[in-house]
Amino acid sequence: MSTDTPDTPPSPLERDIQRRRTFAIISHPDAGKTTLTEKLLLFSGAIQIAGSVKARKASRHATSDWMEIEKQRGISVASSVMQMEYGDCVINLLDTPGHQDFSEDTYRVLTAVDAALMVVDAANGVEEQTLRLLKVCRARNTPIITFVNKMDREVKEPLALLDEIEQTLGMSLVPMTWPVGMGKSFRGVMDLQHDRMRVFKAGADKMENAGDEVVDGLSNPILAERYGLDFQNASGEMELLREATPALDREAFLSGRQSPLFFGSAVNNFGVQEVLDALVALAPPPGERQAQERTVQPTEPKFTGVVFKVQANMDPAHRDRIAFVRVSSGRFQRGMRLKVTRNGKEIRPQTVVSFLSQRRELVDDAVAGDIIGIPNHGVLQLGDTLTEGEMLHYTGLPFFAPESFRTVELRDPLRSKQLRQGLQQLGEEGAIQVFTPVAGGSLMLGAIGQLQFEVVLHRLKGEYGVEARLDPCRFSIARWITCADEAKLKKFIDSEPLRIAHDVVGAPAFMVQYSSDLRVTQERVPDIQFHSMREHS
Ligand code: G4P
Repeated sequence: MSTDTPDTPPSPLERDIQRRRTFAIISHPDAGKTTLTEKLLLFSGAIQIAGSVKARKASRHATSDWMEIEKQRGISVASSVMQMEYGDCVINLLDTPGHQDFSEDTYRVLTAVDAALMVVDAANGVEEQTLRLLKVCRARNTPIITFVNKMDREVKEPLALLDEIEQTLGMSLVPMTWPVGMGKSFRGVMDLQHDRMRVFKAGADKMENAGDEVVDGLSNPILAERYGLDFQNASGEMELLREATPALDREAFLSGRQSPLFFGSAVNNFGVQEVLDALVALAPPPGERQAQERTVQPTEPKFTGVVFKVQANMDPAHRDRIAFVRVSSGRFQRGMRLKVTRNGKEIRPQTVVSFLSQRRELVDDAVAGDIIGIPNHGVLQLGDTLTEGEMLHYTGLPFFAPESFRTVELRDPLRSKQLRQGLQQLGEEGAIQVFTPVAGGSLMLGAIGQLQFEVVLHRLKGEYGVEARLDPCRFSIARWITCADEAKLKKFIDSEPLRIAHDVVGAPAFMVQYSSDLRVTQERVPDIQFHSMREHS
């Protein structure tokens, strides 16, 4: 951020950027991510009635055909963006699909945020999907705030839970609140920062903490009197923790080594306000971003941004394709001319949208940290950098080597053009990875999770009128290949026509059935690098 001194007051742009907090909410399915999202919106005043996020989920099902699959399986396929104001801040909240079959989408969403809010189900502890997502956050040093949910249920002992989270996630937790009791005898949380206890009251109707009873002073004898053993236990635990846990260190938090920990019950609107306050107080404003050419500061006056997600046909009636752009620097204003640096094309989008209070609204003004949506017909691709003219290329958008493969066969051979077009678009969108063998033959699809195949078949039929069939594929491993020496790479590609295919952006991948095949080849051609992840560049 800028180095403001008393002599140079921040510019309006710097002030606006300083107010931004952009974060993703991550969890294993069913931990309560949707419920907490909704309560955050409710507490910030962005929505008036609880239930509207879930209702929106439901209405999306009604209007969007391909999301039938989502409805059937009760999972959220698409990530979405919501903006709200709270206190002095503008919060951009990015939802992520909980189901691991769509985790690639989530990984990319995580590149667009400055912090993450992790929801853990207190009964189940750290679950598989949380662990995978956390690894991505750790790799990027994303600061994480932890919310342990469902304290109104019989759950794990808080100390055991804390230990489990610390061990599995490899970072230290610093309790900001601590629970008194659980399940039927959940009494509330001790607020360690403000030396008070917030008393639990069940109910999803209250809009803010105003209705909650707060008892000041954790040494206040009333607490021990009223909550007896539960309070004694919690105090004992806190005593232990005071010795064992460090104080919150902002630097350690910002580099992802420490996470502030909160307890609550999202469905009962309990503990939500503390999380919202922490997001505003602790989470960082937008930081610098790395491009191939240079590091870009958010407060640079010129607009730059990166497409981290493309979603086709959000509204089947309009067959639109929306590119989600994280503003990386400067200010976006309607009517601006933008350069797509991948191919130098200029665009002048007229109907750029923001996501205020979950409605799509025309953008008047967006600054670094904000997310804008640009409807287009394929001009914008995942990973594209947009600028006011500078040839910049942001790095870091990950594509992972698929873990399952299928070949695609058409039921009606006359529709091969539509099949190619559909797969190209779905591939560019990141819904699936598409590989074209250099030796010709059927296209191959690669996915991280099985459900991606089902979604693609469904969408090919619904959106492109193509009936396709997926057959087993002889490959089970793909590795992108690079070499410092172009000639060596070409020689290797020419020598392996049956085991090399290109993905949608033309990057070559080496494909084998067994990991032993891969090992043998790696030993044979030590100059060639084999990558399980490709960064968009
Ligand atoms: P997700 O987005 O992470 O998948 O989870 P979601 O919010 O949909 O919540 C999963 C289930 O957990 C929901 O119940 C929800 O009501 C419940 N839940 C969320 N927070 C709490 C909490 O603090 N305490 C308790 N006891 N339950 C909580 P459901 O039966 O699947 O759906 P619904 O019919 O209640 O909406």
